[in-house]
Amino acid sequence: MRLLVTGGAGYVGSHAAWAAVDAGHEVVVVDNLSTGHRDLPPPVELVELDLLDAEGLSALLARVRPDAVLHFAARAQVGESVAHPDRYFRTNVVGSLNLLEAMRDAECGRLVFSSTAAVYGEPESTPIREDAAMRPTNPYGRSKRMVEELLEAWSDRGWVHSIALRYFNAAGADAAGRTGERHDPETHLIPNALLAAAGKRSRLKLFGTDYPTRDGTCVRDYVHVSDLADAHLRAIDWLEDGTGAAAINLGTGTGYTVREVLTEAAAVVGAPLVFDEVARRPGDPAVLVASFERATEILGWSPQRDLREILASAWEWHRR
Ligand SMILES: NC(=O)c1ccc[n+]([C@@H]2O[C@H](COP(=O)([O-])OP(=O)(O)OC[C@H]3O[C@@H](n4cnc5c(N)ncnc54)[C@H](O)[C@@H]3O)[C@@H](O)[C@H]2O)c1
Repeated sequence: MRLLVTGGAGYVGSHAAWAAVDAGHEVVVVDNLSTGHRDLPPPVELVELDLLDAEGLSALLARVRPDAVLHFAARAQVGESVAHPDRYFRTNVVGSLNLLEAMRDAECGRLVFSSTAAVYGEPESTPIREDAAMRPTNPYGRSKRMVEELLEAWSDRGWVHSIALRYFNAAGADAAGRTGERHDPETHLIPNALLAAAGKRSRLKLFGTDYPTRDGTCVRDYVHVSDLADAHLRAIDWLEDGTGAAAINLGTGTGYTVREVLTEAAAVVGAPLVFDEVARRPGDPAVLVASFERATEILGWSPQRDLREILASAWEWHRR
């Protein structure tokens, strides 16, 4: 298939673009390089364009005529979204609306969307299933929820059928070392823990040690980015015949506390990790763990890589 990958120069998008090329698909990447990097995607056409440029996007869709779109491009930092909600709704919602309009006009009817566990907010119970209440607690999560609503409307009209993949915590790097995580600033725990243990960044802060969990720190579900990439390819296959606007969790069903991740990260780097215990951050739920039953049912997907493999691959990427 010919695939258009928005945000393909970013962390998750570049892994999916590599996986798509490995699987024999033809790939075109579109990215404004705001947080992405030219050297992360595979050597395919990279169109430097902002999704807010509706005319440019329409022209691109009309030229490329993709069979399907993988849509990663977004602003994706929760804290920044609280400070600048306008930017988040503009890039994530208006950018996605531009894309959906261009797809409708170019008669490209299949989309896989990067959604997030943040659409759920504070869960009532875990593991979280897709039919759980959606009460996002920050503008980032709300913007993603709004895009899911656009997808439902587009599917109802028969314009674009879609799968929204709700990732839990993406982590790890390509086993072949072709791409990995390079955010600036880096807000994710695993790269920060590895870099801190290696003495490449300042001491870490551990936010909250009084949660009702086994060691008092937050529990999260870390899913390998290559497992996410694999799920995207399965979603494209499903959309060949499947219709509707499905939403599917991607997580491992296993949660690790922040302390457990820090201990494992120190072991992988082979250096002690010192950190400062500070107060909770507002809005951080105690436990976020996915049920991935629907991913198995619909896509035949299950996570193949565990926390050890996530840390080892991420460390290999950062070490190099
Ligand atoms: N990393 C995670 O743990 C995680 C978890 C849940 C969901 N997600 C979602 O997955 C997607 C990818 O996340 P990531 O961690 O790879 O982020 P990233 O910042 O590495 O990638 C985003 C890419 O989109 C591009 N981009 C941003 N705004 C754009 C615009 N207006 N026009 C064109 N390109 C634009 C950036 O340059 C970047 O290459 C995002 O939609 C994010 O919300 C990520």
